[in-house]
Amino acid sequence: MTAEGVDTYHLVKSANRYKEVKRTAGVSTTDLVGRMLLLTRNHFRQGSAEYDIEKEEKLLKIQQLQSRLGSSNMGQDSTAKSPWTGCSQFLPTTQKIIQFSDGKSPNPGDKIVYVAGAFDLFHVGHLDFLEKASKLGDYLIVGLHTDPVVNSYKGSNYPIMNLHERVLSVLACKFVNEVVIGAPYCVTEELLDHFKIDVVCHGRTPISLEDGKIDPYAVPKTRAIFELLDSGNDMTTERIVERIISHRLEYERRNQAKEKKEIEAFEALQRQKQTQKAG
Ligand code: C5P
Repeated sequence: MTAEGVDTYHLVKSANRYKEVKRTAGVSTTDLVGRMLLLTRNHFRQGSAEYDIEKEEKLLKIQQLQSRLGSSNMGQDSTAKSPWTGCSQFLPTTQKIIQFSDGKSPNPGDKIVYVAGAFDLFHVGHLDFLEKASKLGDYLIVGLHTDPVVNSYKGSNYPIMNLHERVLSVLACKFVNEVVIGAPYCVTEELLDHFKIDVVCHGRTPISLEDGKIDPYAVPKTRAIFELLDSGNDMTTERIVERIISHRLEYERRNQAKEKKEIEAFEALQRQKQTQKAG
């Protein structure tokens, strides 16, 4: 629905050209935007608490944000279903991973390229980088850093998407053949030997040193298999977050109007069903 309550696909539907495909349950843009604006960290809590939503903590955050922004219309009392306070419940399964992966192993003699990073809010900068990296060889492996590792070098509430969510975004990219789920921050001898890596590369973003002193690419550099690659694209995860934050009020108004219309449409449908049943 648009904010005016019009089905955004009505023209396509009336032309009989509309087809619905299944979405990935538990992954929602609205939820990601909520994480950016509320600075929540629940999405990457580890262990048994990983999917446990602490309402108290969340409500406190909302109140803090409201008082900081002088806004009173975010995350009011409908905590369970508001887009601002809901937290996605994405549960990864092996089937889901299989659906997203290309299922290919490297052929003997293939040149294997390795890149690593956060790949948070998978964007066009990542895409351009991965396309260029894939052209350096025949088989591209992407190492994804864990949530605590990403948080240690990006700070705040980064990563916005947790490791499970980032795995699917990267796997879905056609240039990627394999993903290491939770790669070490420093590229080690073991990792290079295990995956028989021929080239390691990094894009145009600065390289953070581990503990402020260790170069994560020291080992591939000594082996002379390290390359810097210019993606030719200056998009970053941080820029996306900044844009969302600066458009917050607009987004918030649109979401509220949308949510209201969706509830009304849902209720009308329920009433229609009940009338049909009674009839
Ligand atoms: O920042 P992040 O860890 O997600 O980046 C993953 C890789 O993508 C890094 O090698 C980074 O330099 C590269 N990148 C790029 N151009 C961009 C954004 C990211 O080359 N615009």
